[in-house]
Amino acid sequence: MAFAALLPRLTLLTLAVSLAAAASGDNTTTVAGQIRVNCGASVSAADSDGRTWDRDAPSVGGGVAAGAPYEDPSLPSAVPYMTARVFGSAHTYSFPVRPGRVFLRLFFYPADYGGRGAGDALFGVAAGGVTLLRDFNASQTALALNAACLVREFSLNVSAGGLDVTFTPSSSAHYAFVNGIEIVPTPADVVAKPVPTFANGGRTAPMPIRADTAFQTMYRLNVGGTAVSPGNDSGLLYRSWDEDSAYIYGAAFGVSYPKDSNVTIQYPPSVPPYVAPKGMYASARSMGPSAQVNLNYNLTWILPVDAGFYYILRLHFCEIQYPITRVNQRVFYVYINNQTAQAGMDVIAWSGGIGRPAYVDYLVVTAPGAGQTDLWVALYPDVKTLPEYYDAILNGLEVFKLQTYDTDSLAGPNPPLPAENAAADDDGSGARPKKKKNGAFVAGWAAAACGLLAVLVGCLCAWALCRRKSKAATSAIVDVPEKPTVHETPASGLHGPTETCVFSVRAEK
Ligand SMILES: *[C@@H]1O[C@H](CO)[C@@H](O)[C@H](O)[C@H]1NC(C)=O
Ligand SMILES: *[C@@H]1O[C@H](CO)[C@@H](O)[C@H](O)[C@H]1NC(C)=O
Ligand SMILES: *[C@@H]1O[C@H](CO)[C@@H](O)[C@H](O)[C@H]1NC(C)=O
Ligand SMILES: *[C@@H]1O[C@H](CO)[C@@H](O)[C@H](O)[C@H]1NC(C)=O
Ligand SMILES: *[C@@H]1O[C@H](CO)[C@@H](O)[C@H](O)[C@H]1NC(C)=O
Ligand SMILES: *[C@@H]1O[C@H](CO)[C@@H](O)[C@H](O)[C@H]1NC(C)=O
Ligand SMILES: *[C@@H]1O[C@H](CO)[C@@H](O)[C@H](O)[C@H]1NC(C)=O
Repeated sequence: MAFAALLPRLTLLTLAVSLAAAASGDNTTTVAGQIRVNCGASVSAADSDGRTWDRDAPSVGGGVAAGAPYEDPSLPSAVPYMTARVFGSAHTYSFPVRPGRVFLRLFFYPADYGGRGAGDALFGVAAGGVTLLRDFNASQTALALNAACLVREFSLNVSAGGLDVTFTPSSSAHYAFVNGIEIVPTPADVVAKPVPTFANGGRTAPMPIRADTAFQTMYRLNVGGTAVSPGNDSGLLYRSWDEDSAYIYGAAFGVSYPKDSNVTIQYPPSVPPYVAPKGMYASARSMGPSAQVNLNYNLTWILPVDAGFYYILRLHFCEIQYPITRVNQRVFYVYINNQTAQAGMDVIAWSGGIGRPAYVDYLVVTAPGAGQTDLWVALYPDVKTLPEYYDAILNGLEVFKLQTYDTDSLAGPNPPLPAENAAADDDGSGARPKKKKNGAFVAGWAAAACGLLAVLVGCLCAWALCRRKSKAATSAIVDVPEKPTVHETPASGLHGPTETCVFSVRAEK
């Protein structure tokens, strides 16, 4: 076959590098199976969340180690962003990961590396047989997100033989780079239940998804709350939870609030603690105190995504304030893309009481297309059962893109530049304009009536954004991280508490 000639001939250029176990007293990297590589760095170091990042291959051959010439003040941490590994041709990192589902996180800080311009980086990334990124322009993506740096998170089902991550420049005129790579084993259902409900076109039938499906995290929002940093995530999974206010449609923000101080978040058996941290469930957004106002608007989030893919929307609910403790006090509709995904949603009935989390997954298909499209999530009171309050509530929202099964791809286009950024470049002050709101002004009177105008704060909320240092740590409620429930004992030869991880970088010819 013609393909045989095209198969890359693999040459091992770089010696395997042992990742020094953290000797600093910090022990987050000793969680079995977790791998963090500070690409291009010659020593291991801790980030602002206390995670230790191991050094990368010290030699050339497996790409070139380079340092960023300038530390943007909005970088959340110098580690892993201030060093990079730069590739002029296809190179593969091979990680000893045991079979199962993992988060693969790629950290990017676009800058001039090794004398090459930031704008010349254009590359693809593939892992486990799936194209994760294609013709990825990190500079443009960062500009579009109004951020200095970005993280791309994927959930992959690793098969036997470990995980290979390949970086391939789009042409000989371009280069590839990466600042950090993080691999965190997870429970299998951390991004989707095996059989989510299909919520498109008004149909709500369960639809199974393949166990080996790869996902990309598009949004992870702590609705009505502040950002939760990786160190405050549950299950030691190191996810970032962002604010939701930048995605609310128009000016009808509803009301956001924390839990009553005498409410304790208690996970029911159906919601293992790794699903989401207590700090996420402990804040919420509702429509407001006036039934009349609430009956006149939908509380709506608009989330731009890549067209033509399937998406899992995970909605997290928890009643956290008195007096709502009983069934039929607050009942509402969940609309997804203007279709009814759920009628009669009663969080107390679903969860079993105040302070008890619940979540539900919906599968959504977007129309085929090349660019971006909007996902709409809206809440509206369901008054059929004459509930005590005409209101709705949401605590958290996650959106995951599913790989295509025909082309094994998760790659979408680079996001379009907003008009305000196309002309003006960063002045280096670190000052950043507010993220532009989606949608038009709607129901401003409703917002005013609910007394919510103070909610609109400058927030850089895409999941992939780097928050500024002053805002990095945030949740008012501290969650005690649980031990992960899977992969507690490392398989022999793999990364474990007392072992060192050996990985390699090789060039592909
Ligand atoms: C991590 O370190 C702290 C303090 O040094 C210690 O109390 C804790 O038991 C350690 N945890 C693990 C999992 O080793
Ligand atoms: C990447 O995007 C930036 C910003 O839009 C642009 O200046 C640069 O030319 C792009 N690079 C490539 C290789 O397309
Ligand atoms: C990974 O995929 C295989 C099928 O290819 C499946 O049997 C296995 O359960 C999956 N593992 C996880 C963690 O999803
Ligand atoms: C977790 O949240 C608390 C409270 O906001 C904060 O003080 C702490 O620094 C956070 N921890 C991490 C690791 O971000
Ligand atoms: C908890 O506090 C709220 C007010 O903050 C009060 O209305 C409610 O009755 C209290 N509930 C219990 C069980 O103490
Ligand atoms: C939902 O309806 C609104 C108003 O009718 C419309 O502007 C919007 O495009 C619709 N959204 C979707 C995803 O169909
Ligand atoms: C809320 O959204 C639903 C679904 O798109 C729509 O049918 C309904 O008219 C909207 N209600 C209001 C008050 O905008």
